[in-house]
Amino acid sequence: MPPGRHWTHQIAHECKIAGVPQPRHRENDNVTTPGHTAVVGLQWGDEGKGKVVDLLTADHDVIVRYNGGANAGHTVVIGDEKYALHLLPSGILSGGKICVIGNGVVIDPDTLLGEIEGIRSRGIEINAENLLISDRAHVVMPYHKEHDAALERVLSSAVEGSGPGLSIGTTRRGIGPTYADKVHRSFAIRMGELTDKEHLRERLKVICAIRSRELNALGVEAEPLDPDELAERYAGFGELLKPHITDTVYALHDMRRDGKSILFEGANACLLDIDHGTFPYVTSSNCSTLGIPAGTGLSAPFADEIVGIMKAYTTRVGAGPFPTEETGDTGDRIRKRGNEYGTTTGRPRRCGWLDLVAVRYSAMICGATSIACMLLDVLSGFDELKICSSYRLSDGTVTDRFIPDARGLLQAEPIWETLPGWTEEIDDTTDRSDLPTEALGYLERIEEIVGLPTYLVSVGPERTQTLEGTCRA
Ligand code: IMP
Repeated sequence: MPPGRHWTHQIAHECKIAGVPQPRHRENDNVTTPGHTAVVGLQWGDEGKGKVVDLLTADHDVIVRYNGGANAGHTVVIGDEKYALHLLPSGILSGGKICVIGNGVVIDPDTLLGEIEGIRSRGIEINAENLLISDRAHVVMPYHKEHDAALERVLSSAVEGSGPGLSIGTTRRGIGPTYADKVHRSFAIRMGELTDKEHLRERLKVICAIRSRELNALGVEAEPLDPDELAERYAGFGELLKPHITDTVYALHDMRRDGKSILFEGANACLLDIDHGTFPYVTSSNCSTLGIPAGTGLSAPFADEIVGIMKAYTTRVGAGPFPTEETGDTGDRIRKRGNEYGTTTGRPRRCGWLDLVAVRYSAMICGATSIACMLLDVLSGFDELKICSSYRLSDGTVTDRFIPDARGLLQAEPIWETLPGWTEEIDDTTDRSDLPTEALGYLERIEEIVGLPTYLVSVGPERTQTLEGTCRA
């Protein structure tokens, strides 16, 4: 076990499992304060971050979302209850935590209010103290969602008859157009503006006139956008959310200075990062850990531990290159066994073998200090398992470097390593050493190639189905 780590965990004890990663504790002026942790996806999303965030929440005081919007979907299973969260940090499910939606997030207030109501109706309290929303987070407006969908329609038929077209396969939650407005500046609306109806109305008069014309140009045949109606509706949302809307940047700095430990909850994943993912088939935010400083206002070093989350195989939703994709029986089998359907859109996910070139790259970009390997149980029953540790490019060269660009990655062919599979079901394993030898061998190979310990292995959705340890000495 590496020095400075404490691997016993409150929830782990409750669940009678061996433990899950805990943050390092920092010595500061002779006072030991808890450390900060970031949880980030190392593939194309849906790695199971929600479960890890949920497990780590017990050891942190503050849980922060820093990027993305309702395109993300975290499913957390607690006992018989299943929670699907899109905008609320999953820490909201644990009592006594402060949850923060940082300035880097784009917020659909309607969706957020629906989520808050849904959680409250299950007896979980959400109030001005435990949910802080950045006044500088940008608002997803209805025209952003229409624009997103219309652009996807136009792009999917842009190269008629010659394939799937140019669409990205977005979640149609208005994410791209909202971030585009943020960068474009003049038309952007921030959460802080929703609490001033007259100001909002004035801004919307200009915005709606131009947006209506743009939507028409994209083939949307609808009534022109009505600034008065939108101002009424969105100021209404602002009124409801007002107790939560605040300057989260100062709040986070205050909490950090006061010794509170912070857990950063990444949404989407590193390979979807706007700068470092498989551009242009990415989302529109920095969803690697590089998004943390900008999306929260907290400067580096923001975390002592960075837990990179990966599945034991690979999935992707939407378009874009996926070198290890299996389109036949193997992909179907993984999809069925892993229930690989989108939390946000319900779309079947594309499935394939583990691409460790990609994981190693993401771990590098994110500065991961350890790995959580999720859904290992899904691989039970395969005679053989394949791992990709390098690519062969179209000119015959072999590389172990990822290509974070769609055009370049399309020419990458996986070079496979074949490892023996295991027949036993492993979902009720409670000790890592009880895993079949072949499963331990699989984990060991992941650690060798990525160069990081897999301190957490998940063999099912429940908190109890979590194993600690590493193959490393
Ligand atoms: P957008 O974020 O809706 O613009 O979608 C851009 C791309 O990112 C699409 O391929 C989506 O399927 C993908 N994407 C966005 N968020 C997630 C996520 O949380 N999990 C998996 N894929 C995502």
